[in-house]
Amino acid sequence: MLHGILHYAHYLLESTIEKDETVIDATCGNGKDTLFLSNVVGANGHVLAFDIQAQAIQTTKQLIEDHQKTNVSVIHDSHENLEKYLPTKEMLIGGAVFNLGYLPKSDKSIITNAASTISAINTILHYLKTNGLIVIVVYYGHQGGQEEKEAVLKHVMQLSQRSYHVLQYRFINQKNNPPFIIAIEKRKRRY
Ligand SMILES: C[S@@+](CC[C@H](N)C(=O)[O-])C[C@H]1O[C@@H](n2cnc3c(N)ncnc32)[C@H](O)[C@@H]1O
Repeated sequence: MLHGILHYAHYLLESTIEKDETVIDATCGNGKDTLFLSNVVGANGHVLAFDIQAQAIQTTKQLIEDHQKTNVSVIHDSHENLEKYLPTKEMLIGGAVFNLGYLPKSDKSIITNAASTISAINTILHYLKTNGLIVIVVYYGHQGGQEEKEAVLKHVMQLSQRSYHVLQYRFINQKNNPPFIIAIEKRKRRY
């Protein structure tokens, strides 16, 4: 009955993202979420996929090519710079996903960090459509992960409840620092 973490992350994204929208994979890694988002927005949508590691960029580009997707821009830059890759300042982002932590089977010292993660969250919130979601899958078992987890939680917990719904989805009887989800929904202003 209960969705697992990755399944729930995809469920949330596909529930709110519409065809033809522009969406963000803030940490593309091996490209699995990028490919997923590419399918959700369809051929006329656009996925902006970011990573700071050349290996991740190469793997994601290959995956996208193998699936003959033409609606993805794979960008070798930090997600904190994402604003400069948006086509216009008037555009709306349909949704976004982050997977925090390190690239699986790779260098565990190259990790996401609180400052750039929070900066990217704030930029996306500015451009996010009403009722759009940022879905953050928080892995924190690695060195440096606890600090990022605490800083990101602290930041999202103080977002105004008039403007955002903030959800934490986590299994509380699992051992060994299981990943959990933070989902931020931009609310419709009623005043
Ligand atoms: C947990 S992995 C992502 C896994 C990916 N979603 C997948 O399906 O394979 C986290 C990724 O974030 C990347 N990363 C770290 N800091 C970043 C930053 N400031 N901007 C963009 N990507 C970053 C890492 O290089 C790593 O590939």
